[in-house]
Amino acid sequence: MNAINPTTTPAWARLQQLAQDHKNMTILSQFEERERFERLSISLEDILVDYSKNRLNQDILDALFDLARECRLHDAIEDMFNGKAINRTEDRAVMHTALRNRSAEEAFVDGKDVMKDVNAVLAKMKTFADKIQNKQWLGYTGKPIKSLVNIGIGGSDLGPVMVTEALKPYQNPDIECFFVSNVDGTHIAETLKKVDPETTLFFIASKTFTTQETMTNAHTARDWFLGHAKDEAAVAKHFVALSTNAESVSEFGIDTQNMFEFWDWVGGRYSLWSAIGLPIACTIGFDNFEQLLAGAHAMDKHFRHAQFDRNIPVVLAMIGIWNTNFLGASSEAILPYDQYMHRFAAYFQQGNMESNGKYVSRSGKKVSYTTGPIIWGEPGTNGQHAFYQLIHQGTHLIPCDFIAPAISHNPVGDHHQKLLSNFFAQTEALMKGKSLNEVKAEMKAAGKSDQEIEEIAPHRVFEGNRPTNSILVKKVTPYTLGALIAMYEHKIFVQGVIWDIFSFDQWGVELGKVLAKGILPELAGEEEISAHDGSTNGLINAYKKMR
Ligand code: F6P
Repeated sequence: MNAINPTTTPAWARLQQLAQDHKNMTILSQFEERERFERLSISLEDILVDYSKNRLNQDILDALFDLARECRLHDAIEDMFNGKAINRTEDRAVMHTALRNRSAEEAFVDGKDVMKDVNAVLAKMKTFADKIQNKQWLGYTGKPIKSLVNIGIGGSDLGPVMVTEALKPYQNPDIECFFVSNVDGTHIAETLKKVDPETTLFFIASKTFTTQETMTNAHTARDWFLGHAKDEAAVAKHFVALSTNAESVSEFGIDTQNMFEFWDWVGGRYSLWSAIGLPIACTIGFDNFEQLLAGAHAMDKHFRHAQFDRNIPVVLAMIGIWNTNFLGASSEAILPYDQYMHRFAAYFQQGNMESNGKYVSRSGKKVSYTTGPIIWGEPGTNGQHAFYQLIHQGTHLIPCDFIAPAISHNPVGDHHQKLLSNFFAQTEALMKGKSLNEVKAEMKAAGKSDQEIEEIAPHRVFEGNRPTNSILVKKVTPYTLGALIAMYEHKIFVQGVIWDIFSFDQWGVELGKVLAKGILPELAGEEEISAHDGSTNGLINAYKKMR
């Protein structure tokens, strides 16, 4: 990928000028154009993305797509799909799209078509998931597996957690899936209280098979299991590994027959499509897992082939660039109006922030512009009663993505219509706001005194003009969810290209890990520690006295 400083492009300068020219633009005024919704929304199968409630007009959109072209986005997309080593700091290709390639097309990494390996692992996953689902995989006392415990962290946890939660209606009712990620012993201890060693299967999910949290939890689980089974041979029936590191897997004591492989060209936070997705397949069934892959593949094709102005990930990414770099937003909220999707924002917190939280450009220089936003969010309507106040009336500009299904899995009474009335109302309120005159008239009609109106009215004013995207899907199915996840993955990729950063490494998480390794032995004895700065020494020594 080329290193192009986006601020040196003609389009960037034009966008700066447009931001200046339109600094008083209101979103609402843009709706004087009757066809704005039709023009600024895109449908792909069962997904409708409405981006018309943004502070932009056609000139701005044109300049954003010019910026994409001037940053050679099309070449970057092709480089990714063609298996070039675009993760340059780790010298790796980025080929999660191959994992969900449902076409007969080949996918090359280093001159090798990886589809044979991908399909072989998928076939092995299918055989295994079918056995779990059909109660044919038996534990050491001959009982079928009832509890699945995934032990992993980051990308080896968040994807499977988010997807199994989002697709709960598709879960086999006889199988429960638990997730242990935190090295805090409470996480594994509380989980082990809920499961029976005779009917529990552990997935040790780690790309590297060296991550401290995962290996610590894995050893604790193994000790607990052997404490009951008292037979090393029983481990094979209760532990499987999802990893790229066969050597460490067998050192841990898992038969490599029970290892589901993936490859270094699968980034951790893009790995739910790989063997890391096995707990998903065992919980919702392999056919549903395949639907998840198929939905993502449909989005991949759209992303690769649709022209930029009709390309959902590209449009969302470029609007994000506009909001971040020209309107000054520093965070983005993801707000699913679907209780099952309650971990969706947390999932993309890693997806986005670990990918684009970088200040060094592809040419190794410190960037002079803002890169990845802070991602956060919770399901509506809960968020409305918690943090929406700040989105409506705070001093920060927070662009929001509202996501909702038209059809609920639980059509209880009028719950869903009430939920959706909130979904529609929020983006309208954020755009329209409420003027001082409207507030005054309302208060007057309610019989308030002039003095009260004078004093209170300003607090009840909403400036509005807050940008949102609305993503309406027919129903949250495995297919639709797959497409939605891929949509955000590609949005992140596009933004990384424009910001001229490497989106597929995560060097920023290393320093803390290294320092923790050094501190761990210092915590053992009673002697005073003096090797660090004053604060760190003070804290460690205070801890030693407290325990
Ligand atoms: O520390 C960050 C990270 O490397 C993530 O990128 C990754 O998803 C997570 O740790 C877990 O890594 P592994 O799958 O190798 O255990």
